[in-house]
Formats: sequence, structure tokens, C-alpha cells
Amino acid sequence: MSVLFQTRKYLFRKPFNNTFCKYVFLRKNSDVPRKFVTFDEIVTQRRLEAQRSLVVQVNSDSSFNELYSYCSKYASINDIHHYKNSGGEHFMLIEFESEDNLKEVLKSCSAHNKDHDMISVQSPFVWFRAAAGKKEKLVAHEKNLAVKNGLEIINEDVLYQELMNCDTVSDQIQLMYDRTTLNDLGIRLRYMVARQLEVIFSSLYSNVRVQPFGSSVNGFGRMGCDLDLILTNTLTEEMSEGGRRLVFQEKRCEGGRGAARHVELAGALLELRVPGAARVVRVLHARVPIVKYAHLYTDLHCDLCYNNLSGAHMSELLWQLGALAPRARALAVLVRRWAARAGLTHAQPGRWLTNFPLTLLVLFFLQQRPALLPPLDLLVRYARKEDVRIAEENINCTFLRDLNKLPPESYGQNDDDLETLLFKFFEFYSQFDFEDKAISINVGKAIRKPNSLPLYIVNPLEQSLNVSRNVSYEECERLKLEVRNAAWHLESCLEGKRADDWGILGLIESKSSRGLKKLLRVGNSHRLVSMKDIFNDDDEPAVEGIRAKLQKYVKNDKEVEDSIKEMKSEMIKEKKSDQITFKNTQTKNEVYRIRRDKIV
Ligand code: CTP
Ligand code: MG
Repeated sequence: MSVLFQTRKYLFRKPFNNTFCKYVFLRKNSDVPRKFVTFDEIVTQRRLEAQRSLVVQVNSDSSFNELYSYCSKYASINDIHHYKNSGGEHFMLIEFESEDNLKEVLKSCSAHNKDHDMISVQSPFVWFRAAAGKKEKLVAHEKNLAVKNGLEIINEDVLYQELMNCDTVSDQIQLMYDRTTLNDLGIRLRYMVARQLEVIFSSLYSNVRVQPFGSSVNGFGRMGCDLDLILTNTLTEEMSEGGRRLVFQEKRCEGGRGAARHVELAGALLELRVPGAARVVRVLHARVPIVKYAHLYTDLHCDLCYNNLSGAHMSELLWQLGALAPRARALAVLVRRWAARAGLTHAQPGRWLTNFPLTLLVLFFLQQRPALLPPLDLLVRYARKEDVRIAEENINCTFLRDLNKLPPESYGQNDDDLETLLFKFFEFYSQFDFEDKAISINVGKAIRKPNSLPLYIVNPLEQSLNVSRNVSYEECERLKLEVRNAAWHLESCLEGKRADDWGILGLIESKSSRGLKKLLRVGNSHRLVSMKDIFNDDDEPAVEGIRAKLQKYVKNDKEVEDSIKEMKSEMIKEKKSDQITFKNTQTKNEVYRIRRDKIV
């Protein structure tokens, strides 16, 4: 019936011109409600957002009105988001209504290079100069900041208390995800950092594209996670059209090692041409050569690689599996955090697990019956012509992209709450036969290990590779031990009464810091005793009494000393932030005297 209506829509449209008819007759096939958006759609939306945005360094969040007023003279503004970096510098990300709007604003920008060493460069990172002479009249508007301090990471003590107040372990896991996961501004800024490279490199590479991948976009990232970037130089269909007879001469990389050489060049450009890029380190001999750098304006640690498209497709795959089962995301975020606390993962690579294989462990567990997630093979089986993707070195990254086409009975068959899933996760790996079996999310079942490496997790897109080949025997043994400990801990929580390590708290906090917190916690207050309560006013810490108490809770003298040192420096920081800064030292002394007088 509806097909008939749709095919005859033009016939019926005129006589039935009301809302009902509009809905029924003008509905296109594409209007059928879709449960899932594709990863490509999200990437496109984020890239467009970045193409019409600008990051402006300002004096403080109160620069908002002046900045809004100034920019709205040139263009229409959608929103302004405020954040601070770790250096205490303030920034505002402005999203304009269109890319043309942004172009108008960029035309109005000036350069400020007084140094002969510097060649000016234009990118979407600018700063807002104080008005020369008389202040301009502000334009009246009703806008507010879309977000203030948008990159603030939740204070650990507040998080601890919120987790303590949860009714169930499932609530704790969900809260942990909601409070620590990468937020909208975090994602916007990552696309801005990518956009900056794209703009700067575009004069050297035609059709250059820089895009974030890894935990910044795969749905498992936390606030402050590193930014993985991929530089690609793919041709559009138009550019590679066979009918065009004049073809550009091109440059093959002399002496081979193309990827490493491009990364090396990117390193030089980062040092010379990219504002905000600092501490550039090239890692050229790795399987995937990368250049690491810090982006000072956004506080991001970035890893840039060249043409590693399979890494980007892998992120898409992880994102898709997370979209099929949002519980997978919450669970994986917690498992990542637990693993870091248990010392199973570290910031630096080495003979231990990293977050990526750890996430595969979670996904594999969720493929066990009753399955929350389908095996990758099923997504490959349902792939269509438009899903074909061939990455570097002919790696086949073809799998179904439009999840609406996946039969609903092939996933989501498990109703377990997060608490049960977490417990079962630890139990599953406590009993897993790591000696003989490999983990493969392609088939969703344990398969025979092809070699004797301690841990074997099949690379889903290059099945001949093991993504955990670096993991040593000792680290694998520690993994087995820690999953058992975690299962025991959760089991004891179900039986016993609530202690201060109740539920996931016992999994994400180290025992020594828990002891310390217990010592410092007062009554029902979530706040620790203020540093000022512990130390004397004249900056001399009253350490002796506290040292004696601390020794009861922490393992050794070094930890006691470290804790005291940490508190001392926090105290000094608190004191500094309390101080008011004055240009004139005489005024400063006066004010300080008055305050002292008042206190007295
Ligand atoms: N990757 C891959 N094959 C590997 C390692 C990594 O395809 N053997 C891809 C994955 O898509 C991964 C991304 O590279 O997500 C980035 O790797 P990494 O930074 O190690 O992991 P993240 O998922 O980004 O986690 P983290 O937050 O620790 O950076
Ligand atoms: Mg990463």
C-alpha cells in the first residue's frame, strides 16, 4: 500500500494538500527511520563543523562579549565554546554558520610577525588582540557561551564520591562512562587539530586529508586521550577520470621508504610551520612510522602517520560494534581504567598490553552466547558493493557499513546489566585457555593458537597478525592473575556490606591511595581535608603527625614521602591561586597588609 502511495505521490499531491498528505505522499524511501547513522556520516559532519570553526586565544572567559561582538561584524555565529589549557591559557572555539562565513573572518585576520626568523602562516588557530585606543561599542545579543571550561576533567575525589553514592555497580559503571568519556568539545578540538594540518599541508599535497582515528573517534576514548592522526593523499573520482588527457607528472619517492619519508617531512613542517606544535619526535623505524608532537593550544599529544588507512578502518569497526551495543562502550571504558590501575597497561609501549587489544578482549567476550555483538565475519558477509574498502598493502577492510541492514536477531541477544557483564568478563578470562587458544573477533570464538606466543589476539583486518605479539609471558601471567583478583573482588561486593572499595572503586583505585583518602576524608563530606588544615599558615608543613598516620596506610617510606611532597606542592599551588596579582608592588604589599590585619 505504502509502495503504491509512494510511486503515485505526484498524482495525489495536489488534491490532498495538508500535513497528513505531505507526510504520507511525500515520504521517500530514505525517510524510513534509521536506527543507526554511519561512521562516515559522523566523520563528514565533524569535518564540516571544523571547516567552519576557528580557535581563538583570549584573555579570559569574560572576553566572550567582545569577541562575539567583533566576529559578528564579519559573520554569523552558531556557538562559542570556552576552555582552558593546562598552562591556564584561555581559548574559544567559534563555530560559524558556514565555511564562507569563516572565510570572511579569515580575510579580516592580520599577521604579527616582528621576528625575521618567522614566516607567517594561516591556520584556524588565532589570537584576539586587545583593542587599540578607544573601546568599540559592543553589539547587543542574547547569546551565552555554549560551554565554559569545556575541557575540565572531573576531579578524582568528586568522581570517587559520586561512585560511592551510586545504588548499584551497574550505575557506577555507567556513571564512570558518562563522567569520563570524551565530550563534544574534546572531539571538536581533535578535528580542529586535524584541520590545521590539512590547511597547512594542502599547498604541498593535492587533495590532502588529515583525519583523527583511534580512541578519539572510536567511541572508547576518555577525556584527555591521545590524538591519532592519519595523513592521506587519495584522489577523488574526478581527478582519476580516464577521459582527461592531460595528466600531472608525479613524484615517486626516490630510495623507497615512502611512508617514513613523508612522516619525516611532516615532522619538519610541524617544527617550522605549525603554530602550537611542539616537542616533535620522529619514530621512523616502526612498522607504522609516526611523528609524535604536543599541541600546546589544545593540550593534545598527537601521533601522526601517513596512509595507514587500515588503522582508520579499524576505528570505524570498533565504533560500529560500540554503536550496536552501547553497553560495550561503558564496559570497555571501565576495563581500560581497571587495566591501567592494575599496571597492565602503561602510557609507554612495551612488553605489556595496550588499550587497543584490551578493547578487542572486551568485544570478543561480548560475542559469546547469548551474544551482544555479532562476529566480524557476519558484517563481512552482509557487505555490499559500496562497502568495499582496500587499504594500504591491499588490506581488505570490507565490511557492512550501514548497520540498519544487519538482521536485528544477530546482535543484542543478551539482557545482562553492566554489573553482571563486568563480573562475567573477569570470570570468562579467569578461565580462558590462553596457552592453546587465540582470540578472534572475526569468528567470535576461540581458535587454535598458530604459535606459542603467550597472548594471541588476531588482528581483525589482517588476520595473519597478532595485535598482542609484544606481550611477554610475565605480563600475560599478570593479566590472568588480575582478572581473577577482580572477579573475587566483585563477588565479595555482592555478599558483603559496603566498604570504601565497594563495587568498581576497588578496581579503579590503588590500595595505597585508597588508604590515604580514607585517612583524609572527614565525615560525610566528599572533600578531603583541605591542604590548609594540614599545613601551617607560614608554608611550613606540619608533617610529623601526619607522617606517622600515613605510615599505617601505605606500603613504604618512599610512598609516605611522595604523598607528603605531593600535598606540599598542592598546598603551594592553592596558595598561589589565592594570591591576587597586582602590577604595582606597593599596592600589593598594602593589600596584603590589610588582609593580614583583617585576619588578625
Ligand atoms: N591499531 C591497529 N592495529 C594495531 C594497533 C592499533 O589497527 N596493531 C589502530 C586501532 O584503530 C587503534 C588505533 O590504531 O584504535 C590507535 O592505536 P592506539 O593509540 O594504540 O589505541 P587507541 O585505541 O587510540 O587507545 P589509546 O586511548 O590508548 O590511545
Ligand atoms: Mg590512541
